[in-house]
Amino acid sequence: MGLLLILMTISHSALAFHSVTSSWTAQSQPLLGRAVDNSSLLRCLQVTPPVLRPDNLCQQTLMVHTFAFSYGQPFVGNYYPPPCDFNRVALEFTVTSAGRQFDRLAVMYLDDIEIFRTSTAEPTANGIIWTYTKDVSAYSTLFNARHKIVFDLGNLIDDIYTGTWNTTLVATFFKADNTLDPADVIIPISAHKSAANKASAFIVPESKAIDSLQLPKNTKKAVFSISACGQSAEEFWWSNVLSSDTRVFGNDTTLYGHSPFRELQLLIDGNLAGVAWPFPVIFTGGIVPGFWRPLVGIDTFDLKEDEIDISPFIPLVNDGYAHTFEIRVVGIDDDDNGIGHLTENIESNWVVTGKVFIWIESGTNLTTGTLPVISSPPPVLRLQSTTKKHVNGTIDSLKYAIHVSRQISVESTIMFPTGLKTLSWKQNLEFSNSGTLSNQGNDQIMRQITSGTSTSSSGYTRSFEYPLWVVSSYNAPSGGNITIDGRLGRGKNVKQLGELAFLNEWRTFDLNRLPSAPQNLSFIGSSTKNWQNGTASYLSVPALKKSYGSGNTEQLFALSGINERAESVVQGPADETRVSDEISEELYQRCIIAGNDTIVHDKERFGGQHNQRGLLNLLSHNSPVVSVPEYANSWVKAVLGRGPN
Ligand SMILES: *[C@@H]1O[C@H](CO)[C@@H](O)[C@H](O)[C@H]1NC(C)=O
Ligand SMILES: *[C@@H]1O[C@H](CO)[C@@H](O)[C@H](O)[C@H]1NC(C)=O
Ligand SMILES: *[C@@H]1O[C@H](CO)[C@@H](O)[C@H](O)[C@H]1NC(C)=O
Ligand SMILES: *[C@@H]1O[C@H](CO)[C@@H](O)[C@H](O)[C@H]1NC(C)=O
Ligand SMILES: *[C@@H]1O[C@H](CO)[C@@H](O)[C@H](O)[C@H]1NC(C)=O
Ligand SMILES: *[C@@H]1O[C@H](CO)[C@@H](O)[C@H](O)[C@H]1NC(C)=O
Ligand SMILES: *[C@@H]1O[C@H](CO)[C@@H](O)[C@H](O)[C@H]1NC(C)=O
Ligand SMILES: *[C@@H]1O[C@H](CO)[C@@H](O)[C@H](O)[C@H]1NC(C)=O
Ligand SMILES: *[C@@H]1O[C@H](CO)[C@@H](O)[C@H](O)[C@H]1NC(C)=O
Repeated sequence: MGLLLILMTISHSALAFHSVTSSWTAQSQPLLGRAVDNSSLLRCLQVTPPVLRPDNLCQQTLMVHTFAFSYGQPFVGNYYPPPCDFNRVALEFTVTSAGRQFDRLAVMYLDDIEIFRTSTAEPTANGIIWTYTKDVSAYSTLFNARHKIVFDLGNLIDDIYTGTWNTTLVATFFKADNTLDPADVIIPISAHKSAANKASAFIVPESKAIDSLQLPKNTKKAVFSISACGQSAEEFWWSNVLSSDTRVFGNDTTLYGHSPFRELQLLIDGNLAGVAWPFPVIFTGGIVPGFWRPLVGIDTFDLKEDEIDISPFIPLVNDGYAHTFEIRVVGIDDDDNGIGHLTENIESNWVVTGKVFIWIESGTNLTTGTLPVISSPPPVLRLQSTTKKHVNGTIDSLKYAIHVSRQISVESTIMFPTGLKTLSWKQNLEFSNSGTLSNQGNDQIMRQITSGTSTSSSGYTRSFEYPLWVVSSYNAPSGGNITIDGRLGRGKNVKQLGELAFLNEWRTFDLNRLPSAPQNLSFIGSSTKNWQNGTASYLSVPALKKSYGSGNTEQLFALSGINERAESVVQGPADETRVSDEISEELYQRCIIAGNDTIVHDKERFGGQHNQRGLLNLLSHNSPVVSVPEYANSWVKAVLGRGPN
């Protein structure tokens, strides 16, 4: 995705000490329609709970396509609804690739509406294969009608980058769980380019992610979803420094600025309706590629969307006129004195789309109510940075720390046929990031945590925690060799009660895999804990046209269903306190360790103990004691580059 990744890609094609120029044996069979010998291909995977997808006859192959040189040339096909009755849809995306190639971003659309955002593993000379299954039942209303399929996977082929992507996309339609309530109408906030057979994402900040929509007058519930990820110079946004510090190591070493904080904002007619603080997705070429093969990063094959309940805005937007919806990606610029402000002036770029999911109240013509009361004071920012100098006056290291907190609340009262109801959306978010750069910026230690809770009056509550720490060291001594050493730990822990547009995680889990699952097993929510940590290094020896990589990564994943809220009264010394807690049931757990292209340990467990009061405690995100080896003084990131700039 950037120049750094080009070099990293070379490294990885040569993993296990093969020459980077080795070619692969061509296969003559087509990918689909007959058995392909995939036994020699390295199987890559993203750890996720198995998704319910029964083997049934109601399947459609939506795409069989090879992406070779495919920039600006998405696959375009037609979708026709299947001849079967369904309330669930699962996509199965299978990819093979051999040769040398970057990691690539891919987005699938039905017309102008984004359905699925994924990215690729990096191939080996001998070839890789992966399959990812994704539940897309939230889009049932779209799958019931005819659409154009646009699948955009921009790839480059030349003398060096030889890997093409052989892909198949199969949809399975089935019936399960009659308590689902998918949206009646889905309206995109996108660049609307499907008519020209193009992808409809906005590229921000080059273009504004803004659209004008008209909502049905009898909308009773509306949910906004944001899909956005940083690319090129914004790919590693979480490792950026304060804008006032970008030249701290001198003018030859420009660090990326606008701080390591990013916020995705939704504005409706210019009013802030809610925000999403993004999960730091790391692609398979990220930091050191050796971390990510064959085990890819959290969400790498399935970039998730954040949701905002915009139902309190219904009285503002259902007047039959068009209203503007805008998604902004902001960072922080500062004055070098600890004072900062949010800015849309970030580096290039973010790939952004949005959607409004709408539920209709039949039997009425107009939903009425009070205009939303919005409380969204600017976030509270705390910014710090200090430098340490050598005795001769040059900078030894830069230390920085950023803390952001924000509270948002939107409320309105709506007249439903059943009576007046107060609708609300509340967010309480916290972010902190601290780091040290030394050795002319070649060594970095950073630690970040994003956490928060978003609550809707509909009963939806999502609490999340995204910890991340990275230690990286770049070195390019004279002679041309380049090395990168990295260690990292990261997690994504989410507890969600209820649901907005997308199905709660427990619903998409294949409950049939449980040893004894009652047919009607049902939960009010779910909790997922996901943790990855690893060590990886990379060496490039341009003189020999060779490069080498190694890496060890381990991952722990656990999914629990939350049965009910249990309220108990605890008798304290002074008073009695009401404690609200959930009773949860473990559904799935996986512990996996990969080392140098091989899975060396893999344990899965379906079902498990009944965990009362709080969830499993098996996952911790304690960081190890961090020490950084000393390297020479050259500015390797400048040599490698991190993007097109
Ligand atoms: C991709 O498909 C082409 C054409 O069918 C085939 O020659 C090639 O071997 C396939 N590559 C992989 C890695 O499966
Ligand atoms: C690999 O090949 C086997 C045997 O032909 C087949 O059963 C399996 O589905 C294939 N796997 C993928 C991911 O295509
Ligand atoms: C770095 O560049 C800035 C702006 O161009 C200039 O003011 C400054 O003197 C330069 N510093 C050095 C050490 O060259
Ligand atoms: C909706 O509007 C139509 C046409 O104006 C009217 O006939 C109908 O009674 C209205 N329905 C309701 C439930 O108000
Ligand atoms: C300043 O001191 C540091 C640490 O001793 C050394 O690495 C660096 O080369 C020195 N720089 C200059 C310009 O003398
Ligand atoms: C580059 O790395 C290779 C492999 O470790 C080593 O043999 C060679 O001496 C290194 N070259 C230089 C100039 O350091
Ligand atoms: C779920 O299944 C159990 C056992 O079969 C039954 O007793 C219970 O009534 C069912 N609950 C619902 C909501 O259908
Ligand atoms: C992951 O972290 C644990 C705990 O600090 C450590 O023991 C383990 O070696 C790490 N694994 C890898 C692959 O770095
Ligand atoms: C992977 O290779 C590195 C470097 O050769 C080595 O230190 C590490 O132990 C290897 N890991 C496994 C799991 O074999």
